Amino acid sequence: MVRGKFITFEGIDGAGKTTHLDWFRQRLADKLNTGVRKVVMTREPGGTPLGGTLRGILLAQPMDLETEALLMFAARREHLAQVIEPALAQGDWVLSDRFTDATFAYQGGGRGLPRDKLEALERWVQGGFQPDLTVLFDVPTETASERRSAARAPDNFESESETFFERTRAEYLRCAAEAPDRFFIVDSTQSIESIRKRLEEVVASL
Ligand SMILES: Nc1ncnc2c1ncn2[C@@H]1O[C@H](COP(=O)(O)OP(=O)(O)O)[C@@H](O)[C@H]1O
Ligand SMILES: [Mg+2]
Repeated sequence: MVRGKFITFEGIDGAGKTTHLDWFRQRLADKLNTGVRKVVMTREPGGTPLGGTLRGILLAQPMDLETEALLMFAARREHLAQVIEPALAQGDWVLSDRFTDATFAYQGGGRGLPRDKLEALERWVQGGFQPDLTVLFDVPTETASERRSAARAPDNFESESETFFERTRAEYLRCAAEAPDRFFIVDSTQSIESIRKRLEEVVASL
């Protein structure tokens, strides 16, 4: 059985991940079209019953920064063991709304947790495992905050300052520069239509 591919969507809150996620899943499913393999859609934090409980705590409850990072990786361990690894092993593809780059960007870049601590947790939880492809939706923080401001009450992260999101965005871009073969950067200031054209290139490249 050929192992499936693991694809992640990243970007600051309001960058446009959710807008394209379902459409992208459908495009991947069309491409696979074998009737045997499927595309599993998931998200972080979350993706499992325990992860969902941890997500609720992480998004709502104030806590120590290191506790936050540990809970993120605890949820990720469960997600890998229960969902991601079994799916890839049976040949399914997995599409996740955020993964470890988000922890580097938010807890590292945004909140300032030293990178070596996050790298140690990453090694513990995933060994050398990395996504096959990461789509980074990159957008200036002002654009993202305008897009965010509309809907529901903001969570722990969405209510952060403009400078927090500047640091978060910068760390995402640093991660992308460090692993250029894995990352595909989308200019998310573009129209939804032209972003879809870019994403068609991504699908074609897989
Ligand atoms: N390319 C775009 N142009 C204009 N508005 C967009 C674009 N992409 C997303 N939006 C809008 O911005 C808001 C946030 O997008 P969303 O996909 O929820 O971001 P994320 O999931 O990355 O937080 C939504 O209201 C969405 O309709
Ligand atoms: Mg979203």
